[in-house]
Amino acid sequence: MAGGLGTRLRPLTYATNKHLLPVYNKPMVYHPIETLVNAGITDILIVTGGPHAGDFIKVLRNGEDFGLSNLNYAYQEGEGGIADALAQAETFVGGDNCTVILGDNLIFEDLTPAISSFKSGAKIFTKTVPDPERFGVVEYEPVGDGISRIVEKPEIPPSSDAVTGVYIYDSTVFDKVRTLSPSERGELEITDINNFYVEDGDISVYKIQGTWMDCGTFDSLAKATEVMYNDTHVFEEVV
Ligand code: DAU
Repeated sequence: MAGGLGTRLRPLTYATNKHLLPVYNKPMVYHPIETLVNAGITDILIVTGGPHAGDFIKVLRNGEDFGLSNLNYAYQEGEGGIADALAQAETFVGGDNCTVILGDNLIFEDLTPAISSFKSGAKIFTKTVPDPERFGVVEYEPVGDGISRIVEKPEIPPSSDAVTGVYIYDSTVFDKVRTLSPSERGELEITDINNFYVEDGDISVYKIQGTWMDCGTFDSLAKATEVMYNDTHVFEEVV
């Protein structure tokens, strides 16, 4: 999912789409695509939108950099939210299950076991973080580790477990999207979709042990770049 206007990263996003900005030596969107490909997913749809959607073709072409023979693209009119972006994938997905990843999420973990063990309903991927108020946050039932609901960017987080931007859904997700109404910020929220699955008692959780970051703000983008620099060191030392 690589739509939206990236307003939090202006003026960087005046000239191109947020997901094509550099995270050290690669465009941001390379990372989530690599996460999918490393997990064995090769049938990939990029949902984007806004005035710079055409830039994706220039950068990603047919996915050769990922060893793919083709990539698919869909255009989201407006910035109606992550669930609205997901709705653009209905024809592509058909009756299959699908793994969704947000274009600004970086995950350094092999998700193959979590994806291949998916059975039904929905699976969310959580990470314990020091700043949960920036994310969707899991509220647990008083006893046990069952989920009572997910709260989007709560002022007082009910736990430290953020819901990351990776989700697996069965094909009923598109019917669920059709029943959504826009939130207070005017978006169709992926958290509302996840809460439908919570109400159905058909949601499972995978806790990410490795590093997870999003890159949607100046600070998180700078941090992600620093982590990639420290991990990669592809270039000569700058004097
Ligand atoms: O990063 C994880 C978080 O992502 C979750 O914890 C939250 O529950 C979820 O709502 C989301 O929160 P953000 O506020 O970070 O979402 P943001 O609006 O920044 O959108 C994240 C990505 O979703 C963005 O990089 C591209 C895609 N997107 C977003 C919108 C609003 C679209 O494709 N279309 C859209 O209309």
